Amino acid sequence: MKVLLIGSGGREHALAWKIAQSPLLDELYAAPGNPGIADHATLVPLDVEDHTAVIAFTKEKAVDFVVVGPEAPLVAGLADDLRAAGIATFGPSKAAAQLEGSKGFTKDLCARYDIPTGAYQRFKTAEPAKDYVRAQGAPIVIKADGLAAGKGVTVAMTEAEALAAIDDCFDGAFGAAGAEVVVEAFLDGEEASFFCLSDGKTALALATAQDHKRVGDGDTGPNTGGMGAYSPAPVMTPAMVERTMKEIIEPTISGMAKDGNPFSGVFFAGLMITAKGPELIEYNVRFGDPECQVLMMRLKSDLLPILYATATGTLDKVEAEWRDDAALTVVLASKGYPGAYDKNTPIAHIPEASEEAKVFHAGTALKDGGLVATGGRVLNVTALGKTVTEAQARAYALADKVEWENGFCRRDIGWQAVAREKA
Ligand code: AMP
Ligand code: GLY
Repeated sequence: MKVLLIGSGGREHALAWKIAQSPLLDELYAAPGNPGIADHATLVPLDVEDHTAVIAFTKEKAVDFVVVGPEAPLVAGLADDLRAAGIATFGPSKAAAQLEGSKGFTKDLCARYDIPTGAYQRFKTAEPAKDYVRAQGAPIVIKADGLAAGKGVTVAMTEAEALAAIDDCFDGAFGAAGAEVVVEAFLDGEEASFFCLSDGKTALALATAQDHKRVGDGDTGPNTGGMGAYSPAPVMTPAMVERTMKEIIEPTISGMAKDGNPFSGVFFAGLMITAKGPELIEYNVRFGDPECQVLMMRLKSDLLPILYATATGTLDKVEAEWRDDAALTVVLASKGYPGAYDKNTPIAHIPEASEEAKVFHAGTALKDGGLVATGGRVLNVTALGKTVTEAQARAYALADKVEWENGFCRRDIGWQAVAREKA
């Protein structure tokens, strides 16, 4: 099979590394890719926003299958255009990608099909939103409706904070994404991420993970795209996974199909495990980054036929086998991230991978023959272990061998799970 992978982050490096191990693979292309992905794929400098150019490339190279990594091309309808051109594609349609692209869309779906989630209201102007906040009281959660690069959510512990967040949204802090606001009940519990494939009819549960959104040790400082993650999430017991499938994933699949938007791709469900059970915080319609990296380390099965079955409506014919081991990833980021940071800082050395530990590239480039950091999140040092404690020790041992002066990482990724293992 000839495969084109769309994307250039650590998630796509992990996907490329795993797809490249498939005996079914004849040729792997990545657009635009990165220097880590180049170890497994031929990089193609395609403009992913130019759907006609992407389709022309797939025809020229007789590509059989396209795997879309990030959400932006999905929300822009790349999967629809590829499928219309007759190319099997992993990733939801533009209509189904609204599950990530519009929080109001997802909340309305939950309301229609009795999917457990926080009570909410949608607003197009500030005053009625503020009246609702005053009536509900704090803590309460204010969300810009659209894609806001993970920054559109305020968990307001006071009414004043909530009212200010409403003003921010309508004053344009998140551009068009904030033209509508969702006000949502605060959910109390432990967060977990759950990954599940669907071809529109069948669901295949993958695995669970927990991430670390805050930039600083002890979960302090501003939110980021994720400073590390581990899998499995201890709070997601087999019973909790079963409830999540029954109460959240299955009604989503049947509801989306009933509404004329059948979902094909991966559900990345952000869950709050409350006293009542699993409740949906949000859906993403692509693999998490860096959650994908820990999932790929733990997946024993060949990934390529699983993704292909998802795209071609034959998910009932495949299974996914997982290692019992835990996996943990530490993000090395440019000093200053998530604020301003220097670009093109040199990375002098990346240590060799082993069976148990590996460095994925997220924001790197080659410049004048040398490796440089180009992004905020730059490398993902990922390791397996019998326990999270062991995976953590291996990941930090490898991270400490990376030579990159402008890099930093959190030193406590996995702390909740490590504390649990000690108890
Ligand atoms: P989101 O971008 O929707 O994932 O929200 C970002 C973060 O805000 C989540 O990971 C949660 O930590 C928090 N959050 C979002 N919605 C709620 C809620 N209803 N109750 C409590 N925390 C929430
Ligand atoms: N790590 C969170 C995300 O991919 O959205």
